[in-house]
Amino acid sequence: MTTVTEPESVAAPFAASGVGRRVPIVSIEGLRKSFGSVEVLSGIDLDVHPGEHVVLLGPSGSGKSTVLRSINLLERPSAGSLVVDGREHATPRSSGLFAGAPRGTALQLRRTVGMVFQQFNLFGHLSALDNIVLPLRSVRRMSRRDAEERAAVELRRVGLIARAGHYPNQLSGGQQQRVAIARALALDPQVMLFDEPTSALDPELVGEVLRTMRLVAETGMTMIVVTHEIGFAREVGDLNVFLEHGKVVETGGREFYDECRSQRARDFLQAVR
Ligand SMILES: Nc1ncnc2c1ncn2[C@@H]1O[C@H](COP(=O)(O)OP(=O)(O)OP(=O)(O)O)[C@@H](O)[C@H]1O
Ligand SMILES: [Mg+2]
Repeated sequence: MTTVTEPESVAAPFAASGVGRRVPIVSIEGLRKSFGSVEVLSGIDLDVHPGEHVVLLGPSGSGKSTVLRSINLLERPSAGSLVVDGREHATPRSSGLFAGAPRGTALQLRRTVGMVFQQFNLFGHLSALDNIVLPLRSVRRMSRRDAEERAAVELRRVGLIARAGHYPNQLSGGQQQRVAIARALALDPQVMLFDEPTSALDPELVGEVLRTMRLVAETGMTMIVVTHEIGFAREVGDLNVFLEHGKVVETGGREFYDECRSQRARDFLQAVR
């Protein structure tokens, strides 16, 4: 009997149609999202390449969280295409690099994309270690022993191995967020989404979480980050995307923070700096 093993990445075949082009790991085209009659995303285009660190900026209500939540299918796009690792999760494209991309399942997507939220979303009745063990058991189907070993590796990576047995209410906010980051990393995502991971923290705890995120960035992890920490954004942002009213107003590379063109982005940066 022949066993057909699914390739780790389905993006590769699509590279053939774009000779010499880098293939995005996340490719959003014309993404729209409405809640009832209110359209909150009005046609977002965004390509994120492997290893790239993207920062989403914009005023409250501009749609930053909705973009991240759409990438993770916590929100279902109303229209447009969402290709993650070569698989289409919204409306198939009729032309371009990802025309005819195979349809992906929510499970495939969640195995590819990890997310860290403003509120850490740890289970209060589980230790730091078991908060990481649980998804390894359920999503990765690991044995308890293997899951515990892997969870310990991740806790060590975020500097919290000594707190493995502590419950969330015995940890500071910064430590809880680092456990949440370790939990997401343990699932070996190809892309990590961070939605204002430091904004619920006391100011003195922000630094340790940013340090952990910097370490993650240095591993070459693809990251899409919503943050108002402009110093951090300036440091890691290979691609910086300024949103307003559900639209991309301006994008820029490393020069964005010093040379953005639109008045709106300039005003925004002035206000949050
Ligand atoms: N589940 C929902 N139902 C109805 N409206 C929603 C829902 N989620 C978000 N919205 C609306 O969509 C718009 C965009 O929200 P979103 O949370 O994406 O903005 P944001 O840029 O992340 O803002 P903030 O900086 O305050 O977090 C807002 O007007 C918000 O009220
Ligand atoms: Mg938000």
